[in-house]
Amino acid sequence: MNAKGKERPTALVTGASSGIGLGITQALLERGYRVVGNSRTISKSKELKASENLVLVDGDIGKKDTAIKVADGIRVNTISPGVVDTPMHANDDHELLKKLHPVPRLVQISEIVDALFYLESAPMVNGENIRIDGGAHAGAKW
Ligand SMILES: NC(=O)c1ccc[n+]([C@@H]2O[C@H](COP(=O)([O-])OP(=O)(O)OC[C@H]3O[C@@H](n4cnc5c(N)ncnc54)[C@H](OP(=O)(O)O)[C@@H]3O)[C@@H](O)[C@H]2O)c1
Repeated sequence: MNAKGKERPTALVTGASSGIGLGITQALLERGYRVVGNSRTISKSKELKASENLVLVDGDIGKKDTAIKVADGIRVNTISPGVVDTPMHANDDHELLKKLHPVPRLVQISEIVDALFYLESAPMVNGENIRIDGGAHAGAKW
């Protein structure tokens, strides 16, 4: 329930065991959403435990049977990040990666979460893509 006593929609998060997906899942749960979280090994997650508000679905999301388990009738918007500070880049050179963005730093997971909640609050935004890359898409950095 939200502050006005309205039922929150249930969110589906793929790649929910790490990085961006984990940050989004935690932010949704903190705000009272119910979440269906998927990754190939999510039931082994140390950070996430199944609960009344969190259903964990193991499986490769590229496989039809996994997609059927987690899918629903939904609005579809996308978020296209630049280089985000996640375990995906744990062993990479952050100093070099920062230079790929005109705003010279890595994107934070919290900034992806901000865009997610904007999209959730805007029911007429559908089929949209939001780039969060410090302006890289507008320049010749990629
Ligand atoms: N970090 C960046 O800079 C950046 C920028 C642009 C786009 N992206 C994209 O954003 C996504 C998340 O990135 P991240 O940095 O958060 O990565 P991450 O920390 O490595 O997390 C990847 C997540 O995806 C899950 N996963 C991988 N293959 C899967 C599959 N076939 N089916 C279901 N789940 C799968 C992993 O869990 P399991 O191993 O348990 O399956 C894990 O939960 C990736 O697609 C990445 O390419 C990342």
